[in-house]
Amino acid sequence: MVNVAVLGYGVVGSGVVELIDNNNAIFSEKLGQPIDVKYILDIRDFKGDKYEKKLIRDFSVIENDPEISVVVETIGGIGAAYDFTKRALTAGKNVVTSNKELVATHAPELLILARQKGVSYLFEASVGGGIPIIRPMFYCLAANEINKIVGILNGTTNYILTKMIYEKTPFDKALVQAQKLGYAEADPTADIDGHDTCRKICILAALAFGRHVYPECVYTKGIRDITLDDISKADAHGRVIKLLGSAKKLENGDIEIFVSPCAIRKTHALANIEDVYNGIMVTGDAVGDVTFNGRGAGKFPTASAVCSDVIDAARDSIQYSIFWKDEGRDFIRSFEDIKFNYLPGTDIPVIE
Ligand code: HSE
Repeated sequence: MVNVAVLGYGVVGSGVVELIDNNNAIFSEKLGQPIDVKYILDIRDFKGDKYEKKLIRDFSVIENDPEISVVVETIGGIGAAYDFTKRALTAGKNVVTSNKELVATHAPELLILARQKGVSYLFEASVGGGIPIIRPMFYCLAANEINKIVGILNGTTNYILTKMIYEKTPFDKALVQAQKLGYAEADPTADIDGHDTCRKICILAALAFGRHVYPECVYTKGIRDITLDDISKADAHGRVIKLLGSAKKLENGDIEIFVSPCAIRKTHALANIEDVYNGIMVTGDAVGDVTFNGRGAGKFPTASAVCSDVIDAARDSIQYSIFWKDEGRDFIRSFEDIKFNYLPGTDIPVIE
């Protein structure tokens, strides 16, 4: 039996608990033993919830329980989540997370701590929701020098832009719909202003280029100012507007990285990634372009990625720290140095 503790019983955490319950026969077959959620940690009350008996409020119970081998952190943010992650790793427990903010901010330290303790710190769900991208980049594309990654990395803003493009829905109404569907962050400004995309492109850039990229060094612009008029202008030029995260390695090793709404051709591989879907194009020197797409947010797509990490953590130790070094910030190119063409009559970069 693999005993798991889930920290945070929100959209993703509850999805993880339900998925483990619903698909335990499958997990058991793949792992050779069943998985049990022994504890769910949350400070809120969930009266009458199916799993109410598992709810606890004191993290030290989990930290001191030798039966717990995997801790799932779906609290989000870098407050309690950071503290509990360090304590869980220090106690020799594997940690699995969907928390892109924590990974983008503190991965070097947490990965080294995991390695020292001989456990894994896994974050497949931190980028692309249910899309397998972290492990494919680290393992399946390991033979390549990766030169470029460009992606639609935020489901909420892609949903909003899709509604604006195809249904001429006003921005505010589309945002409320995305929130109701459980796609948006607790504070949706992280989606709208591009910070969520920024964290995700930083994680992918670190996996691709082997160096931690600090989110605060990345030029980040969201979709708050995109109007239906911008959308029509793009349409008139055979383009659609997408919020992209882009990272490219230059010949001298510097990294060009930014987040911005961009006008891409309707025939571009990412142009038809719609609604909550995310799409990620990775360019390797041997493989060429590879595109990943799927549901980038939501309860069960994200739980799917978290649970695959739980299975992997229970099987073996995975060490992303081997290729994720903190080498400072000097290699990040300034956004002002990047040469763009702009969609006529707008300040929206055109990307080919
Ligand atoms: N708010 C995020 C999104 C959730 O909309 O993509 C998944 O990371």
